[in-house]
Amino acid sequence: MPGPEDTGIVVADAIAAAIHAGATTLGLATGSSPLAAYAELARRCAAGQLTFAGLQAFLLDEYVGLPADHPQAYANFIRDRLVRHVDLDPARVHGPDGTAADVLDEALRYDASITATGPVDVQVLGIGVNGHIGFNEPSSSLTSRTRIKTLTAQTRQDNARFFGSIDAVPQHVITQGLGTICEARHLVLTASGSRKAAAVAAAVEGPLSASCPASVLQWHAHATVVVDEAAAADLHAADFYRYVLAHKIADQGY
Ligand code: GLP
Repeated sequence: MPGPEDTGIVVADAIAAAIHAGATTLGLATGSSPLAAYAELARRCAAGQLTFAGLQAFLLDEYVGLPADHPQAYANFIRDRLVRHVDLDPARVHGPDGTAADVLDEALRYDASITATGPVDVQVLGIGVNGHIGFNEPSSSLTSRTRIKTLTAQTRQDNARFFGSIDAVPQHVITQGLGTICEARHLVLTASGSRKAAAVAAAVEGPLSASCPASVLQWHAHATVVVDEAAAADLHAADFYRYVLAHKIADQGY
């Protein structure tokens, strides 16, 4: 795709297609990567082209220890950036509770709740510069379940822009595991900008490896990677991917 707004339209198309096909459960990511898609979904909802009524949603992850009203708590981020702009019932948007007294138990509870009421029909994913998805940092088991993870210094530095300083970024998170994420029926990973180019290339064309958690998409039956030209810059077979996109047959979808 030429730029981030174009990736947003394609990701929104994939979500809308799932909803129109009867999806009941969405998987939502935070971070800046999906924001263009969320803006496009809000626009379609306001135009009466799309409804989220009756759907439920699960968040990928949450910081441990942030106060419930902290603007960077992911439950608040997704409320502010998507939920309040569409007709998705806030009571049906679920995330792990990073303020729980026993966060180890909370991770198990959250994983079980996804299994009980899922599967997720379409899961939106961003990607960290080190190849993480959710908050599954490099060395995460490819079959991991929802659990506590310790953030790398790189991820804390990357997310410091939202907190003012790296010291304010929590060290621990609850994240859906790679195994949990892969139970979704359709994975849609989106990225834009040159900082993501190496991670995107490693995820799509590198070895399937815990060293690049996003490479687990190669093992999934239905995974779609939606990137802009800058994020695609390190892909060796980019010309082939463009060719495939230009020659999709009718109703093939993403
Ligand atoms: C964050 C989130 C991920 C996100 C990634 C990239 O820390 N936990 O879900 O995909 O890192 O963030 P951004 O999209 O802001 O670059």
